[in-house]
Amino acid sequence: MRTPFVAGNWKMFTTADSARKLATAAVAGVGQDQRVRVAVAPPFPYLALVGEVLKGSPIALSGQNLYPEKEGAFTGEVSTAMLLDVGCKYVILGHSERRHKLGENDLFINRKVNAALAAGLRVILCVGETLEEREADHTEAVLERQLTLGLADVPTSPDLHERVVIAYEPVWAIGTGRNATPDQAQLAHAFLRARVGQLLGATFASQFLIQYGGSVKPDNAASLLKQPDVDGALVGGASLNADHFLAIVRAAL
Ligand code: PGA
Repeated sequence: MRTPFVAGNWKMFTTADSARKLATAAVAGVGQDQRVRVAVAPPFPYLALVGEVLKGSPIALSGQNLYPEKEGAFTGEVSTAMLLDVGCKYVILGHSERRHKLGENDLFINRKVNAALAAGLRVILCVGETLEEREADHTEAVLERQLTLGLADVPTSPDLHERVVIAYEPVWAIGTGRNATPDQAQLAHAFLRARVGQLLGATFASQFLIQYGGSVKPDNAASLLKQPDVDGALVGGASLNADHFLAIVRAAL
């Protein structure tokens, strides 16, 4: 059985005050319930304060990005050690906003994936096609490329399914209010699971989690999450409202 996993990606939103309130409400709403794995990814400046709020809660802390060098003259960047130091368990990598707005390519993302895993961070690796790619019938080719290059050289330990989560996020559905239909999501997730099987073996493929992301809201979460290969959600906009985020967590049950 795969435990569903719902993560809130706060992107470049919140203030210290609103981040604290949001985390406090999430902690109260989740309590000690561990039937759904939950994580939140605040902006870097608020990781430590949100980490304090999460103490004693099963909600995990996640970074939104990292730089794949141990330390050094990399102005503006954040290392794996820093993320671990403030209590992060996860890091989101390959998000489409970083791919398409900040110019990250698959090779750079792969360096980050391997740096995170080597340091002991768990990775949420985002993949997903743009609208043009979908309309040109290139969805599978894009997913295949992002997955294969993203996971290149990852060490295949038996607990790899604990350490890597895939998030399928069709770019055209992110922040647009236009989510993939449950059938579109299921098709893409089944494709990704099959590819992971070819890359890493059938056992891992059956165990690893594939989150769906892209305009997940309380009113569409249940229909997406009940698809057999949809194992949770990576939630942007709706994760900034504690009631909406908690409703999505409940929908994953
Ligand atoms: P959204 O963002 O829920 O606001 O569409 C999802 C994401 O980018 O992870």
